[in-house]
Amino acid sequence: MTSAPPDRSGIIVAPSLLAADFSRAAEEVAAIEVGGADWLHLDIMDGHFVPNLSFGPQLLRALRPRTTLPFDVHLMIAPVDPYLAAFAEAGAQHIHLHIEAGPHTHRSLQTVKSLGVAAGIAINPATPVEAIAEVLEIADMVLVMTVNPGFGGQKFIETMLPKIARIRAMLTERGRDSPIGVDGGIDSLTARRCIDAGATVMIGGTSIFAAPDYGHAIASLRAGAG
Ligand code: DX5
Ligand code: ZN
Repeated sequence: MTSAPPDRSGIIVAPSLLAADFSRAAEEVAAIEVGGADWLHLDIMDGHFVPNLSFGPQLLRALRPRTTLPFDVHLMIAPVDPYLAAFAEAGAQHIHLHIEAGPHTHRSLQTVKSLGVAAGIAINPATPVEAIAEVLEIADMVLVMTVNPGFGGQKFIETMLPKIARIRAMLTERGRDSPIGVDGGIDSLTARRCIDAGATVMIGGTSIFAAPDYGHAIASLRAGAG
């Protein structure tokens, strides 16, 4: 039996602000919006769950009136619960939290949904797929880390490709067609391989903001050069 090729028409591209010029944050966001971005990915780091610090809800609030792009917020913080409402109020449309960030992830996902925000479950490279099995029914999407979180500009971890395929199969078994995002080291070549494995949301920092033409870089991730 041959399986149908993946449908590339619904691929979402979410540039990660982490790689932008922060001194010109609003202009950078406007440029990726004009360039065809679907969502803006915002990486929140606490210097504890990951060994780096980034920014908080203040920046979301400042950017919210400057763009119509949905805010795709990736919380690399522990604990998450005390901050969920603040990110929702600051304008998040999606909030991803990590399965590794605490013992009560199911409750945290419920809280995100109760705030009227789509809830994503993020999974680190070292964590086996079974860890998220019990929350796939409640999560609106899955974020597969294809680098160890904390920094932009890292190399894509190849062994995450079969992991993406396993998560896609787990979703299909449950009758779910949820988006799977991939985050870290995504360029046109790795995007294509992730799409083939079952991913549908391409998050790109360096490959977009270090490119001379954001529109071209966004289009290459979306096509996975397909
Ligand atoms: C890593 C972040 C990513 C990062 C991706 O901790 O979650 O979103 O910004 O950056 P690149 O595309 O440069 O790997
Ligand atoms: Zn991220």
